[in-house]
Amino acid sequence: MSSNTTSTPSAEASHAKPQRIVILISGRGSNMQSIVNMAKGRSDMEVVAVIANRADSAGLVWAEEQGIATELLAHRDFSERLAFDQALMKRIDAYQPDWVILAGFMRILTDVFVTHYMAKLINIHPSLLPLFPGLDTHQRALEAGCTAHGSTVHFVTPELDAGPTIAQSLVPVLHGDDEDSLTERVLSMEHTLYPAVVQYLVSGDCYLDEQGEVQWTKPVQRIFAHPILKDFMSN
Ligand code: GRF
Repeated sequence: MSSNTTSTPSAEASHAKPQRIVILISGRGSNMQSIVNMAKGRSDMEVVAVIANRADSAGLVWAEEQGIATELLAHRDFSERLAFDQALMKRIDAYQPDWVILAGFMRILTDVFVTHYMAKLINIHPSLLPLFPGLDTHQRALEAGCTAHGSTVHFVTPELDAGPTIAQSLVPVLHGDDEDSLTERVLSMEHTLYPAVVQYLVSGDCYLDEQGEVQWTKPVQRIFAHPILKDFMSN
């Protein structure tokens, strides 16, 4: 090959097609918004669709206003979990996604679904996994007397909230916190954490290998600390 036909990795990346992202939501969709807003400024990725399972999802209206393709697939229209998941897979696959992002998608997914998207399916969970899988994480963190709490972005595997961690945010639990104040603090950090992880994946900084372990191709920030914690540490 002559030298003028070779290209550097960065030149190849800049000519690569944008990676296609489908985001699944159930409600407000603030994490989805943070990813859409981040992706708007980049040529290496595109949010090609937002799909919701609830008709009253405010996030779906917002996504439509942004000119993104939106779909509503109501789980209530299906009597079986697997039938819903198969219909959802059909809708998602029509967009030929590179990444499927769960952003407040309040459904337990079947193994069939999870296996179909293995290594390109990620989720954000509002706790420092493996602590507090499941629901009511903020209240449970308060009741357990935790001094720190946060969120985890992980690859999705068949076991609920147990897939390998990619990165986490860390927030303090403060004197006088209640469920609302803690929820708000955790959510505010999710809007930094989740877009950062999406950038890592799209850039190839990390991936899930065949053994189900996260591999890193370069060192990147994996813990995102709330500003109050940074203040504590500098004192
Ligand atoms: C977030 O707290 C996320 O961790 C959890 O569901 C909530 C979704 O919020 N999985 P939003 O719909 O993204 O605003």
